[in-house]
Amino acid sequence: MILVTGATGTVGGQVAGLLAGTRPLRILARRRSEVAAAGPDAEVVRGEYADHGSLLRALTGVRAAFLVTNDIAEPDDERFVAAARASGVRHVVKLSAYAVADPQAQDLITRKQRQNERILRDSGLDWTFLRPRAFMSNALAWAPRVRSDGVVRALHGSAPDACVDPRDIAEVAVRALTGPGHEGKAYQLTGPEAITPQQQTACLSEALGRPLRFQELTADQARSQLLRRYPPVVAEALMRSAQRRLEGGKSQVVSTVRDVTGSPARDFRAWATDHAEAFA
Ligand SMILES: NC(=O)c1ccc[n+]([C@@H]2O[C@H](COP(=O)([O-])OP(=O)(O)OC[C@H]3O[C@@H](n4cnc5c(N)ncnc54)[C@H](OP(=O)(O)O)[C@@H]3O)[C@@H](O)[C@H]2O)c1
Repeated sequence: MILVTGATGTVGGQVAGLLAGTRPLRILARRRSEVAAAGPDAEVVRGEYADHGSLLRALTGVRAAFLVTNDIAEPDDERFVAAARASGVRHVVKLSAYAVADPQAQDLITRKQRQNERILRDSGLDWTFLRPRAFMSNALAWAPRVRSDGVVRALHGSAPDACVDPRDIAEVAVRALTGPGHEGKAYQLTGPEAITPQQQTACLSEALGRPLRFQELTADQARSQLLRRYPPVVAEALMRSAQRRLEGGKSQVVSTVRDVTGSPARDFRAWATDHAEAFA
């Protein structure tokens, strides 16, 4: 049995979709009604990380689990790992972040991910870390303004990021969950090229078949946009992370997706074409 967490989110949803129908699959979700990707065969256990009993119900009989946590204020990895150990789980595949391997990256989110990796390393369980660069799907945040005014507004328009397609992260996750030889590996994951927001705008424009304009946000504008969606500490961590991109710290491209899956990493042009509807 494989357990997938985060199945209502970006990567976990893709992982559940890829595993559905291929083997016994269980999903831990706070809201059962939101679990769409896994199809009718998956067993859904209603629960959350703070509810130890629900974790034990979800983890009983599970061999390998895919772990997604995203609340920096909560000890969710610790909670999950304790329940996984108590349930006899063998292998946890954890969604982490590329920046944990960058000593210059000291924002709060990255430090929390380092701490979370340490919990799993020290647990005695087998582990695999997936460390992606920015998700290409972050561009969906631009969709409302693209739809209304044909404008992409972003910080540091000419600073590149080797962003990765969440579908490729999920493909790697599924290999790690189902095949041998992934224990003790930390996979840095990027797309096939480093691409700037201005270049992403051009790809979206091509995919939509209409001109789009790029407008650079000032730091203050970007910060106030972030503060509308996140608590101040998270907004500040994301601003620091953007600063690393400006310094060129996010442009390295690696071949891990191809090495692990045998298929080349998808580029942003493909992502934009496949998601054009969201911007149309
Ligand atoms: N976005 C990026 O560019 C990027 C880059 C590198 C790494 N990451 C890492 O990726 C992770 C986020 O992945 P994602 O974007 O796929 O996730 P997401 O779309 O933000 O969704 C988070 C998932 O986790 C579930 N969840 C959160 N708290 C939970 C709790 N207490 N109990 C049970 N389930 C809970 C959510 O369930 P609900 O639907 O109930 O909320 C949802 O399914 C973070 O660790 C982040 O640091 C992100």
